[in-house]
Amino acid sequence: MRHNRVRKPIRRLAPPRKSVPMARLKTLLLALLGLGLLALGAAAGFWFAFVPRSYGPAEIAARGQPDVKNGAYVFAMAGCASCHAAKDAKQGERLKLGGGQELATPFGTFRVPNISPDFDTGIGRWQIADIVNAVTRGTAPDGSPFYPAFPYVSYSRLKLADAVDLAAYLKTLPAVSNRVGAHALAFPFNLRLGLFGWKLLYFNHFSAPPQIAALPVAATDAIARGRYIVEGPGHCGECHTPRWPLGGPNLARWLAGAPALEGKGRVPDITPHARALGPWSADDIAYYLDSGLTPDGDSVGGAMGEVVANLSQLTKDDRQAIGAYLKAIPAIPPPPKPADPPAPGGS
Ligand code: HEC
Ligand code: HEC
Repeated sequence: MRHNRVRKPIRRLAPPRKSVPMARLKTLLLALLGLGLLALGAAAGFWFAFVPRSYGPAEIAARGQPDVKNGAYVFAMAGCASCHAAKDAKQGERLKLGGGQELATPFGTFRVPNISPDFDTGIGRWQIADIVNAVTRGTAPDGSPFYPAFPYVSYSRLKLADAVDLAAYLKTLPAVSNRVGAHALAFPFNLRLGLFGWKLLYFNHFSAPPQIAALPVAATDAIARGRYIVEGPGHCGECHTPRWPLGGPNLARWLAGAPALEGKGRVPDITPHARALGPWSADDIAYYLDSGLTPDGDSVGGAMGEVVANLSQLTKDDRQAIGAYLKAIPAIPPPPKPADPPAPGGS
């Protein structure tokens, strides 16, 4: 029902009258949408006070010794290094999570924070529970909400054990001293308060996250495992699923392709539609996620290169599970091409 509510703003994006410059109209619309969010945020203020959203330190400690080795595996599945390590970092450098990458979006530029265990510029002072709440609840230790540029909507599907192991693993990584500046976002998106409203719309605190795609076939163990990786830690939908104007995922077009967040090119449809992954077998998909090579012999480019760098560290079984799941989801045709857009990613 939450998703129905977001359809309305879309209809309001009617084609502009000729006399109004497009850029100004766009800015105005964005500002209006943002102000709406702010109002929602204010309404949500009281709600924030009693939401059962966070894990307490005692609750986490009661689980016993975390499995750091599993944490390293979850780290690879979840691709934390893609954003939190230096841009284009390779191998060992991918474990230095000093942040500083800039993510350009229609709302402005995000500066990815330092999540290395450095005490002064990183998150060395955070407890395991603080990290778990950030990753799976989108909530900072002081209770403020995170921007969804940090893909916690997907990570909220992590099993608690995996999230705790991941947090314990982060604490074993090298401390990097690097002070990262503030985000450079346009008004009103620079006001964190608005995120209370955003989370009210798109983030379900109260119960298990909603089911995404009903599978047309009976789920085998492999498909179920693939579903966990793709919908949760792998956060594939964050790039491959289109968004509503306020940034929430359009689940009716789950994994059916989307404009690239950076604004140039498209992220491909990876459903089993004939014009998407239809011609690929589950093994082809697994092979691509390991080698970066498509069945036609093309090699992976753009943001997906980082994803392959992470997924090639998984077990073969897990990559095959991803392939099995992607072959099992509903086939959705890619949107018609506008003109002949440049290949997504590029370099
Ligand atoms: C797509 C890029 C991206 C990925 C992938 C990503 N993050 Fe982040 N992360 C961000 C951004 C952007 C922020 C800042 C959010 C904000 O300011 O509200 C952030 C914030 C954080 C914070 C809060 C840090 C602070 O000082 O407030 C933690 C902790 C964190 N991320 C951990 C992780 C972990 C663990 C993973 C992997 C499971 C991960 N992130 C994956 C982009 C990313
Ligand atoms: C950071 C954004 C991002 C994330 C996250 C992401 N992808 Fe991709 N993906 C892309 C882009 C961009 C391409 C196009 C790559 C190219 O042009 O070479 C792509 C291509 C692909 C392809 C090849 C499709 C084709 O027709 O060539 C597959 C398969 C794929 N992704 C699967 C996945 C899976 C599975 C996940 C999650 C584990 C995932 N992707 C997560 C951005 C992403």
